[in-house]
Amino acid sequence: MPETLLKELSKQGRVGLLLPEPDIPVKPIGKLLGENNLRSEPPPLPEVDQPTVVRHFVRLSQLNYSVDTHFYPLGSCTMKHNPKVNEEAARLNGFAFLHPLQDEETVQGILRLMKELERMLCEIGGMDACTLQGAAGAQGEFIGLLLVRAWHKHKGEEEKRTRILVPDSAHGTNPASAARCGFIVENVPSGSDGCIDLIALEKALMPNEKGQLPAAVMVTNPNTLGKFEREIVKVAELTHKAGALLYYDGANLNAVMGKAKPGHMGCDIMHFNLHKTFSTPHGGGGPGSGPVAVKAFLEPFLPVPVIEENEGKLRLSYDRPLSVGRVHSFYGNVLVAVRAYTYIMSMGKEGLLKVTEDAVLNANYLMHKLAQIFPVAFPGLCKHEFVLSLRQFKRETGVRTWDIAKRLLDYGFYAPTVYFPITVEEAMMVEPTETESKETLNAFAKALENIAIEARDNPELVQTAPHKTPVGRLDEAKAARELKVRW
Ligand SMILES: Cc1ncc(COP(=O)(O)O)c(C=O)c1O
Repeated sequence: MPETLLKELSKQGRVGLLLPEPDIPVKPIGKLLGENNLRSEPPPLPEVDQPTVVRHFVRLSQLNYSVDTHFYPLGSCTMKHNPKVNEEAARLNGFAFLHPLQDEETVQGILRLMKELERMLCEIGGMDACTLQGAAGAQGEFIGLLLVRAWHKHKGEEEKRTRILVPDSAHGTNPASAARCGFIVENVPSGSDGCIDLIALEKALMPNEKGQLPAAVMVTNPNTLGKFEREIVKVAELTHKAGALLYYDGANLNAVMGKAKPGHMGCDIMHFNLHKTFSTPHGGGGPGSGPVAVKAFLEPFLPVPVIEENEGKLRLSYDRPLSVGRVHSFYGNVLVAVRAYTYIMSMGKEGLLKVTEDAVLNANYLMHKLAQIFPVAFPGLCKHEFVLSLRQFKRETGVRTWDIAKRLLDYGFYAPTVYFPITVEEAMMVEPTETESKETLNAFAKALENIAIEARDNPELVQTAPHKTPVGRLDEAKAARELKVRW
């Protein structure tokens, strides 16, 4: 693409490219980084031969904990097996060496894949239109909330519709995204079954004393307690009656897909976490992907560019006057989309349904085993995950959930999510995922059983764990506050 064209596109905001301007003087490195961050002398790097360097880095890589080496029962995160065929697809030259500024003519293949993936996600979600731009679940939520605002603005109600209602069982990013988008965030309590309290919701949907109205209700379903919101259709009805939109956090879709569709439950906007449900790598900060799907009436508001098809040719269209604009540079994390597409194609309809059934089966199997050791916070059938409460256990032994999580590392297991959701005291949240064997789940339950015995017999052993990891208990707050980025 000629440079003049790039500049023109860049000026129009159609490409996020920063071209070097010859008249801008280059700043000295000290100015850019801050003089006090510059080294006064070269780092003391050892002069060593290649085998030593290779062994050093291979050993370091072996310290890495990942789904490819260990079980990863991190609740609310779905750390499941990432089939290697996904990686092979993403590394094909035709995908890996594409440049986002190539002419549309030359990228018909990836545009076709993206369009197809959008269609598949709409089918799975029961929705009408989709954007792949979100780079993570939280960014999907952000896009969804921009859509909420754009819709109310379109109806001339933007000034009044300022409140977002978020049940306390929603994922923590939901209220954060709503606040980030400038909305007032209000909490809706759960009932004793861990699901949304409908009476409290009905009350919250009324205008407040300042006359401010709800803009949307954000529901995570299944919620972060692993419960399916059985009254979701009623929640949708109440929300719509109050003139608000229903946002569905679909990041936990591996417990639902193939069985039910959020679109049929009455939601208007939903996001997917490709890096959770559709088996693409996750963790270490990404890159992830949080596509957003909407019902037809919200399609004109989706971010640009939108992939359009005309006589078999695909193109990126920016001609969307009602669009919320561009939310991510270029077209989202496209290679994550390639992995998700590969996963969906290799699983097929039946395979995705089996994923759901296995996710729910594994979670319930493990929950029943662990319930013999620690009480389940909200007993009864769970979906993909469940939450234990170690409140009583801590009272009896002085050993906290935190200590148990640390001791699990000595047993070769990654720690589950702890102290979340905040509504459960001494919470431990476990998501086994559908890709773990019965042997692994049994071994994990056995490790927790042993740790519970240790905690009663020798609490100090657990309270000072881990003992077998390269580093022990770190002062994480201190490390965050006094970050040292050079030695
Ligand atoms: C239910 C739910 N919603 C939203 C998110 C946020 O997704 P991300 O971490 O990709 O921003 C997560 C994260 O795992 C989640 O579990």
